[in-house]
Amino acid sequence: MRIDMASRVVYYSWKGHTEKVATALAKLLGAELVRIEPDRECRIGREAMKAFLGMKSPIRPTKNDLSGIDALIIASPVWAGKVPPYVNAYLDSVRGGTGKPFHVIVEMGGRGDQSAIARVRKALERKGMEFVSSASTIEKDVESGAFAGTLEQFAAGIRKQ
Ligand SMILES: Cc1cc2nc3c(=O)[nH]c(=O)nc-3n(C[C@H](O)[C@H](O)[C@H](O)COP(=O)(O)O)c2cc1C
Repeated sequence: MRIDMASRVVYYSWKGHTEKVATALAKLLGAELVRIEPDRECRIGREAMKAFLGMKSPIRPTKNDLSGIDALIIASPVWAGKVPPYVNAYLDSVRGGTGKPFHVIVEMGGRGDQSAIARVRKALERKGMEFVSSASTIEKDVESGAFAGTLEQFAAGIRKQ
């Protein structure tokens, strides 16, 4: 990664695990950190169903214009083998990313990472962006700190880009 390269880590987190991952990653990369915020209180049953159905839920205005950004990293929890409806809403709103690289990291209890990554990948490729790499972390490793190695490896790959 060029020294002057501007990267942005965009994340959603309900319980804080993805936030921990995204914050540590942004620090490793010297990247801007942006949080996706729901526009209204999260009623988890309804939102889980919307994740399952691949739907969107309203979010507050979130930096979605990628002009001036060289690489985008999406960090999301795995919900129902997919991603939260807030992440779907963000991905749908992204603009100015044509031809730009992106990376995906998902955080989970233990299963569904590949299908969740595939959702993000498809949504951004539809916007003309170029998928480069992905990684996943597991809740218990995020809690214990054992995710550091995975994260360093992921960050090293992004830096090499
Ligand atoms: C609605 C919902 C659905 C979930 N579905 C999955 C799943 O399919 N696979 C999995 O491994 N974990 C699943 N989880 C667990 C979360 O991915 C895990 O707890 C993660 O650490 C949450 O990130 P957060 O703390 O940033 O919100 C689900 C959690 C919620 C709330």
